[in-house]
Order: sequence, then structure tokens, then C-alpha cells
Amino acid sequence: MTITAPNPYGYFDDARREYVVTRPDTPLPWLNYLGQDEFFGLCTNTAGGYTFWKDAKLRRLTRYRYNNVPYDLGGRYLYVNDGGAVWNPGWKPVKAANVAYECRHGLGYTRIVGERDGLEVETLFFVPPGENLELWKVTVRNKSAQRKTPKLFSYQEFCFFEALNDMTNYQRTYSIGEVEVEGAAIYHKTEYRERRNHYTLFACTHPIAGFDTSRDAFVGIHEGLHEARVPFAGQCTNSVAFGWNPIGSHQIDLDLAPGESTTFAFVLAYVEQGDTPKFDAPFVMNKAVGRAIVEKYSAPGAVDAALADLKKYWDDLLSKFQADCPNEHANRMLNVWNQYQCMATFNMSRSASMYETGIGRGMGFRDSNQDLLGFVHMIPSRARQRILDIAATQLSDGTCFHQYQPLTKKGNAEIGGDFYDDHLWLVLSTCAYIKESGDVAILPAPCGYADKVYASDDQCETLLHHLETSIAYTMKKRGPRGLPLIGHADWNDCLNLNCFSTEPNESFQLAGDVKDSKAESVMIAGLFLYAAREMAELYDFTGQGADADRMRAHYAEMLDVIEREAWDGEWYTRAYDAEGRVVGSKANSEGKIFIESQGWCVLGGAGTDNGRARQAMESVHKHLFTRNGVVLQQPAYSTYDKNLGEVTSYPPGVKENAGIFSHNNTWINLGWCLLGDGDRALEYYLSICPSAKQDQIETYRGEPYVYAQMIAGKDAPCFGEAKNNWLTGTAAWTFVTVSQGLLGIKPDYAGLRIDPCIPKAWPGFTATRQFRGNTYRIEVKNPEGVSKGVKRLRLDGMEIDPAAPIPFVEDGKTHAVEVVLG
Ligand code: BGC
Ligand code: NOJ
Repeated sequence: MTITAPNPYGYFDDARREYVVTRPDTPLPWLNYLGQDEFFGLCTNTAGGYTFWKDAKLRRLTRYRYNNVPYDLGGRYLYVNDGGAVWNPGWKPVKAANVAYECRHGLGYTRIVGERDGLEVETLFFVPPGENLELWKVTVRNKSAQRKTPKLFSYQEFCFFEALNDMTNYQRTYSIGEVEVEGAAIYHKTEYRERRNHYTLFACTHPIAGFDTSRDAFVGIHEGLHEARVPFAGQCTNSVAFGWNPIGSHQIDLDLAPGESTTFAFVLAYVEQGDTPKFDAPFVMNKAVGRAIVEKYSAPGAVDAALADLKKYWDDLLSKFQADCPNEHANRMLNVWNQYQCMATFNMSRSASMYETGIGRGMGFRDSNQDLLGFVHMIPSRARQRILDIAATQLSDGTCFHQYQPLTKKGNAEIGGDFYDDHLWLVLSTCAYIKESGDVAILPAPCGYADKVYASDDQCETLLHHLETSIAYTMKKRGPRGLPLIGHADWNDCLNLNCFSTEPNESFQLAGDVKDSKAESVMIAGLFLYAAREMAELYDFTGQGADADRMRAHYAEMLDVIEREAWDGEWYTRAYDAEGRVVGSKANSEGKIFIESQGWCVLGGAGTDNGRARQAMESVHKHLFTRNGVVLQQPAYSTYDKNLGEVTSYPPGVKENAGIFSHNNTWINLGWCLLGDGDRALEYYLSICPSAKQDQIETYRGEPYVYAQMIAGKDAPCFGEAKNNWLTGTAAWTFVTVSQGLLGIKPDYAGLRIDPCIPKAWPGFTATRQFRGNTYRIEVKNPEGVSKGVKRLRLDGMEIDPAAPIPFVEDGKTHAVEVVLG
């Protein structure tokens, strides 16, 4: 495996599945996520970030101030006082000189090592699988020739659980903070006396020399974290917070002979009291549950065993899909980082990142349905539950809560609604789940609608009912041309054709819409084609022929409308506004051609028989493609137009106004695969691939290991600069594009279907795919240098029909699949 050092800030260590940051002053903070189930932490390359349980808004455990100066300040800090010299292994907050630094972001863990003056301090942060806690494994090594007596000070600032109130309501919050300290365990118990039955525990497995729980005592009132009083004084104060801002800090005094090292851990846990009594005595909480946690991780080997669990967890997950193809970037992204990012988007939706504060948004209806497409192969059972949770936030008329809070699973109207694409994504996620798992039994599962009250589960409508409601909604809610109404917006949240906002303080997403508007979306029409075809194939599989025909009739009707109403001569138009004027046409002076309708019309099968699909894609290539990806539309809007909304509010070249919105690039890449152009598919893929951006990292600025939501387009002065990294539908869709489009390994109802579309120069590739308990070792050969077309297919040496899925028989065994293109 390659270990290359292609940018000044770090490199991929592919063999260890790590990204190694070699200097802390990266162009932007480079983030990792800790946690895979319900407890999560954001952790930057300087140990910045925060933790929460399930819901970054309603159960935030530690504090973080967004948009701070510097950007990333506050986190899992460890101060070292070595003979009076104070420094942090992760550089921040002290930013001392002469500290050797290395950060390794791995799968579910971040390891940061600092060394100064012969003292090495290694911190390893991770959340063990299945646990509601974060561990910091600390190893201190005296590499010098002298005895050393360093003092270490941990530091975490506690959050009062409800993150919005925590950062806005100081007249209350400055008076409610409470803690208890027992041995080396600090219990943050604000609001525990009243309605909370949970608390945060921050403990150390090493005996401590003292502690602090008052921020004022530890940091000072006029000091910053970089000059905090206690670590510079080298002595804690044993402060017990009463109100103001509780923190957790332990002082650990070490005495290390030359060459000696010591290892211990910190435990940061979310603890639910359950049914056990809340108090031992007035004001003294019952700490039994917390104590058991500390004991568990104080046992020798417990922390290492948890780390081994984490490693096995990721090894198992990633072994479901591994490929070896002739492109280094595609390999490392597909095999490791892309799948890893899919876990993060599945867990976080768009809630908590360096750009999403964990307060504004919960789980998005359309976002989570799409995120599932890149996750379902890893843990189908979690995808199943997610589908049922999402479906339950649909309303009985077919519209949806645009998002819901993960803690309550209840729809949240505060961020707006009436996006008339939302419901259709449920069809895509459900079908992807059934294709992966074969579990048609999800269809009759009870979900019910969010606006109805049910006495029992068996009265709830089924998931299939939701899918039918979704299809029916789009068929019914159509405009004058027969195209679907757009509502507040479709996938492009910023194409607001009905709100006519002129009030500068109004959020575009919350601005109400005029009643009975007739604005229509071509993108939804294309998405509908895709969804209707999926439903027809699903009904074919379940043997409901009449229903399949009904779906095909809907498909034919919508296709006819698209071809009749939405062809502009060289590409598909984008929409029709409230007055019926075209958007995304040669007739417009700006915004003549949009990406989304080309992508979805082509993926939905429009333009297949009449050459328009290829022509639309060629128009994308001619007008929208750049070396940094495909811009969303052209020409960029130069002035605000209230008839079009937020899309025209952004400066040219960013976000939806002609930025490179990576998410929709993937639809075009899939389109190239559909049309059989593997060279274009790879070229487009690499244009937004972060691993391929390292030679322009000063411009790109984002993490080289995860896809960005947005890269500045050619109209922006910072063309090529990435933003909104991590939480983007790009993750799931890129996994689909590369695994199913390029490599052509597609789960289907009857079995795996193999239909690659690769660059002509590729001699072939190999892949291992676990599917419904079987393992397929796939070898694709391309002797004739084609892009697409399976000439021969062999299963365990037997010739089988190359056009059909590999017949699935569950036997839990490994099968050899040989594919010859030509
Ligand atoms: C952004 C969109 C985003 C929306 C969410 C807009 O400001 O441009 O990308 O989807 O907010 O509310
Ligand atoms: C980001 C949002 O999360 C997503 O739902 C939306 O489709 C895109 N922005 C495009 O506006």
C-alpha cells in the first residue's frame, strides 16, 4: 500500500486506514468523528470539538463555541506542565513553540502525539462500540536522560444539555450549574435535581493530585484558554462549581525515570440513572451507575480491549465491500473514507459539523433517505429502523416534516416545510434497503402518519401505504403543464419560486409561500420517473403485476409530460415559476442551464430513445463542467430576484448560485455510467475527489479525506475552495456512483447484478462484496479495452446469463464471480 506525502500538512497512511496530519496549522481545522452508535464526539486535529448523546441539540454534554476566534477553540484539552513549561500535545490552546506534533485521524478514533524536551504525551480519543462514553487513553513517555516530574491537567467544559438554551439564556444558566466530586470522578449534574434523570461523568483512572470544576478558578475571568491560570501555576485549586460555568479538570502528578512511561485513561460518559434512586442523601446523588463505569475502565486491559473492539467493528464493516481498481484515489476513498463518511452522514444527517451547529437542523427527511443509500450495505438493520422512523414523520396528505429531532423522533416544523420532493426519496431508500437485504417484510411494517393519532400499532398505516401516498401525491399535485408542483423548493432548497421574499431579516427557508401557486419543477418530474420505475420493479418482485402496470402507466404519463414540456433544445429546463415563466432555459439571461434536471431526467430514463439524454449530458459538459467539478448552473445570477429566491441571494460561484455542489455532481457521474462513458465518469469523479486535491490544498483547504458539500465555482474568486465538509449527500451518492455505477456491483431484488462502466484503459479490477450473508469475490477483466458491456459471466466456474442478476441462494459461502467485458 502507498504511503505518500503529497501535501504540506499530511498524508494518507493507507495500510493503517489513517490520515496523518503532520502539522497542526492546517488550512482549516480538519475534523474527525468519534462514535458510531448513539454517543458522538467531534474531534479536530487539535483535539477541538464536543460530545453529545443521540442529539446535538437536546443532549449536548460538553461545550463548544462555534465561529470562535480562532475557528476551532475548546475541546478535549490536556495541559502539560513540565518543569514550568506549559504545552498541549495537540498544540492548542497554548500553541507552545517546539512541540513535535502528529495527529492520526482513524476510523472512530483520533490519536494525537506531542513531544517537547524529551517528554512525549500521546492522547487517543475514541468511543467504544455500544458504549455511551468517550475514552481518552493517555500515555506519557520520558524519552529524556533525566528524571521528569510533569503535571498534567485535563480540561473539559460542560454543557447544560439543551445546547440552544445553554448558549443564549445566561440569566438562568449562570445560576444553575452543579457538580459533585468523588475521588477522581467529576459528576456534572446541572438540572439533575429537577427534571433530568441523567448526568455527565468525567473521571480519571489514575489517582489525582486534585481537581477543578469552576471555570473561573481554572482559567480565570480575564484569561483565555491559552493562558489558563491553573496549568501555568502548576497547581489546581479543588474548586467546586456553584453556578457560572462548571468544567472538569483533574491534576495528575507523575514521576518518570529516564525511559519510563505510564498509561491511564479519562472517561467521559453520558449516564442515565434509570430506575435506581436519584439521591443517596439530600444533594448527594446516587453515583452507583457512574461508579460502575469508572471501575470497568479502571480494570487493567479494559481500555485496550475497547480499542480492539473498535478496530474489529470497522474491519468487519468495511469488509462488506472492498475493491482494488487501477486508481489510487478511487481505491482509498471507496474502501475506507467514503464508507466512513457514510457512517457519519447516516448518524448526523446535517446536524453537527464545523458548519452545522447541532442546533439548527436534526435529521432531514430527504437527507436521511439519501444518506441511507451509502450505509445500507454496512448495517441493514439500522437502515430498516431509520426508514420506519423517517416514514413516521410523513403527513397523511403525502407532505413531510422536513426534519425531525433524533432524540424524540418527532417532526420539527421550525426549519420550514412544503418541499415537494421530500416524500419521493422514501421510495429510493426503501427500495435500496429491500434490494440489499431481501427483506420485503418491511413493506407491511406499521408506521402511521405524523398528523394522526393511533390507539395501537396495528391501526397504523404500513410503510407500503406511505410509498403509495408519496407516488400519489406527486401525480396529483401538478401544475398547468402537468409537471409536479415545486412547493417551497425541491432538492435545491434555494430555488424558492413562491415566497417572493423582500424582508431582509426573513429566513428564505422559513418564508411562507403564496397560496395556490402553480410553480413547477422538472427535477421532481425526473426524480418521479426514477421512483415510479423503482415501485414498478418492486411490485414485479412481489408478484403484484397490476400494481407494477399502474406504476408504469404513471411513469409513461410523466415521461410524456417531460419530453413535451421540458425540453429546451439542448437540455432539460429546470422549472416554471409562479407566473409560468421558464427557469433554466436559453430564454433566460442568467441561470440558463441547471444541473439537477439534467441529472434526474437522465437517471429517470428520459431522453433514452430520442438522443436527448446524451445531448443533455453533453450540454452539462460544455456549459457546467470544470476541473473542480460541475457547477450548479450557468450563468451565475448577478442580482437578487425575488421570483427565484435564495438561489439568487448568494454571490456568484458559491452554494446554489453556480457553486460546485458536489452532491448533484454524483447524479451526472451516474448518468455517464448509464450512457456507458466510463472515461467521463472517472474524470468527473476525480474532479471533486478530495484525495485528488492535495496538490492544490492551499486553495482547497478542506479535509483531504472527506467529500465537501460545496467547492467554489468558476465565478468565485476562490475557485476550488471547499466548504461544508463531511455532512453532505455527496458521501452516499458517491458510494453509489463508484460501487454501483463505475464498478457496476448493484444489489437487486433477485441478487447482485454486475454491470461495470469503467475507463477504457482499465485492464479490469477485483472486488469483494458481502451480500445477504454470502461473499462474492469478483474479478472483472477488460481485454478489449471497452467501458461497458458484460460479455461473459461465470459463477463458481459456471457460465451464467450476463444480463441477469447472479441468482441468489443463501449459503453463507464465498463465491467466485468472473466477469469479462467486451
Ligand atoms: C443553503 C442550502 C441548505 C438550506 C437548509 C440554505 O441556506 O443554501 O444548501 O440546504 O439552507 O436550510
Ligand atoms: C443541503 C441540504 O441539506 C439538502 O437537503 C439540499 O438538498 C441541498 N442543500 C441543496 O440545496
